[in-house]
Amino acid sequence: MAIFMASTSSSSLNFNSLLSSSNHHSPSFAHQTLTPHLHFPRTPSFKHLGLKVNCSVKKIENMKIMISGAPASGKGTQCELITKKYGLVHIAAGDLLRAEIAEGTENGKRAKEYMEKGDLVPNEIVVMMVKDRLSQPDSVEKGWLLDGFPRSSSQATALQEFGFKPDLFILLDVPQDILVDRVVGRRLDPVSGKIYHLKYSPPESEEIAARLTQRFDDTEEKVKLRLETHNQNVESVLSLYQDIIVKVDGSADKDDVFAQIDKALAKLS
Ligand code: AP5
Repeated sequence: MAIFMASTSSSSLNFNSLLSSSNHHSPSFAHQTLTPHLHFPRTPSFKHLGLKVNCSVKKIENMKIMISGAPASGKGTQCELITKKYGLVHIAAGDLLRAEIAEGTENGKRAKEYMEKGDLVPNEIVVMMVKDRLSQPDSVEKGWLLDGFPRSSSQATALQEFGFKPDLFILLDVPQDILVDRVVGRRLDPVSGKIYHLKYSPPESEEIAARLTQRFDDTEEKVKLRLETHNQNVESVLSLYQDIIVKVDGSADKDDVFAQIDKALAKLS
């Protein structure tokens, strides 16, 4: 069992102000007040964003991992592989939001307006959703794999305020031209939840092919908007986790991408 000791300090921040802040529309917020209060683990060092893991640390039993990357960089695909091997609870902000939309809740209706435009959904909807899921007994017991959250410095600060600190931050690095191709060819199996791609990861049978669905925001036009939003926010998030980031070449074959991630996780587990 291993623990990376995080230096924690209580922040004077009022969480209500985080909930009402509207993500990337308030960038100065992070740099003025929040950043100095954030203290993420200092070891191990993944500082140069390679896979050199500098671990003179104790092992971790229930790992807490964040995975980030541009739209269609392969977060969901890698999460399937990671959870299969490491048994972590996969918590995807986008999936939580789509579940609200499917249920027709007020939050879901509001969230869809933002998702249609490729914008970040406001914190007052998404932060509590993620916090509640992270607090469930299975996440606490097994550890978690947080996918697509935080996407702004205010979301990162909210997590910190609630006491959720990651051991490792995985960044999938994929060139922009590949991303559009991945998005338009992506299909989902509503029965198994598995992610397919018509070209790179086709369904195994005619039966599965017949039931595949496409996400409402998986068009070339919408992914460009999502990319813009991602590019506006990514640096502010990365700067908060720089000491625990491992940067992975996400343009490789999915098994090769997983091999890179596995190598980093194996050092922790
Ligand atoms: P979300 O659902 O998180 O979408 P996203 O970030 O755009 O990421 P994707 O799910 O599109 O892609 P992915 O990286 O998981 O790729 P995948 O593995 O499927 O968010 C949707 C929206 O919700 C946001 O736009 C926002 O509005 C809102 N939202 C979400 N989180 C929020 C937050 N924290 N705050 C506010 N709003 C939030 O792979 C894509 C395709 O590529 C697949 O077909 C797959 O088979 C293929 N593929 C994957 N890896 C490879 C590979 N190595 N080689 C070849 N093909 C591959």
